[in-house]
Amino acid sequence: MNPQETRRVRVGVIGASGYGGAELVRLLHHHPGVELTYLGAHSQTAPDVAQVYPHLRGLGMALEPYHADVVAERCEAAFVALPSGVSGKVAAELAGRGLRTIDLSGDLRLPADVYRQWYAHDPVDPAVQAQAVYGLTEWNRHALPTAQLVANPGCYATAVLLALLPLAAAGWLPERGVVVDAQSGVSGAGRTPTQSAHLGELYENFYPYKVGRHQHTPEIEQGLAVYTPVRLLLTTQLLPAVRGIYAVSYVPLPQPVGLDEVRARFAAQYAKEPFVDLYGPGDIPQLKHVRGSNKVALGLALDERTGVLQVFSALDNLVKGAAGQAVQNFNVMYGWPETTALSALALYP
Ligand SMILES: NC(=O)c1ccc[n+]([C@@H]2O[C@H](COP(=O)([O-])OP(=O)(O)OC[C@H]3O[C@@H](n4cnc5c(N)ncnc54)[C@H](OP(=O)(O)O)[C@@H]3O)[C@@H](O)[C@H]2O)c1
Repeated sequence: MNPQETRRVRVGVIGASGYGGAELVRLLHHHPGVELTYLGAHSQTAPDVAQVYPHLRGLGMALEPYHADVVAERCEAAFVALPSGVSGKVAAELAGRGLRTIDLSGDLRLPADVYRQWYAHDPVDPAVQAQAVYGLTEWNRHALPTAQLVANPGCYATAVLLALLPLAAAGWLPERGVVVDAQSGVSGAGRTPTQSAHLGELYENFYPYKVGRHQHTPEIEQGLAVYTPVRLLLTTQLLPAVRGIYAVSYVPLPQPVGLDEVRARFAAQYAKEPFVDLYGPGDIPQLKHVRGSNKVALGLALDERTGVLQVFSALDNLVKGAAGQAVQNFNVMYGWPETTALSALALYP
């Protein structure tokens, strides 16, 4: 399809009063193939979105209560960014009404039994979940042009899968397990204030949370299992920062694989990827290299003494970890260049 001939798709953002939804609005606002026709909220409906998000002043759109009929009438496509347990049901409802729908929650990423175990919510209809295309764009773009319903990946899952999938595909992951240490900025927990996100608790502090029970664990294992069954020991930690996911994956390499071979594998895999930035020897990514951009930065190091490879990955949880990747998926679904509305460089400092 020639994008220049494509008319604008009428798009709704359900959950536009949340961090993920507001980021979608910011990105979609200057997408040449999108006309924003509906912004949804739950408790924070308002005649002007700027009352809830002053940085969106001038958009001139209301935050409206969710009514499936209204959304179906006004929109052809929808992004749904609601809490797990609610989001997948709304996404399934809209997809059932013919809207091409991208869900940012974890509700459509896992089969019902696994979902129930890790999320402790009732799963969506398993037949609907099975239809949802997992939207890790770099590894699944072939399935997107025909997708009606997309399960956008989790932020940690995106960082870790992009780091580990080249190794899984090469057969270099040890079955007995991979250890991943990962950190998130506090916006990963959404806008609703909680004690753990309170400035007095988080500032000058750093601590693990959901130890042994983070819900992205099965999502990552499921992604790797396409190539090899592998157990993941994931430790998630909260950073005194607003945006960012940083993951370090520790992989004991099989003999005689060396760093040059690993680097060549990553380079070949990601050579044509606009949003995967593979750093050169000795260069290690930092959060500020990607903040505000849709990029994931990957770095590689081999500790010769232990034979353990370290894969460093950094991304912005609200962009490549959520709204940016969702727009990337939208672009593939509608035949737009994948970088459309996503070419912003990182913010610095
Ligand atoms: N934040 C991230 O970095 C990130 C990354 C990847 C994926 N996600 C996923 O994206 C989704 C949204 O996350 P977020 O960070 O944007 O959360 P958030 O800032 O807390 O926003 C939640 C949104 O859901 C609405 N909402 C809350 N309770 C609701 C209910 N019972 N029924 C209907 N709507 C309800 C809120 O509306 P009101 O404010 O108007 O009440 C708000 O629009 C989650 O599933 C999250 O796991 C988030």
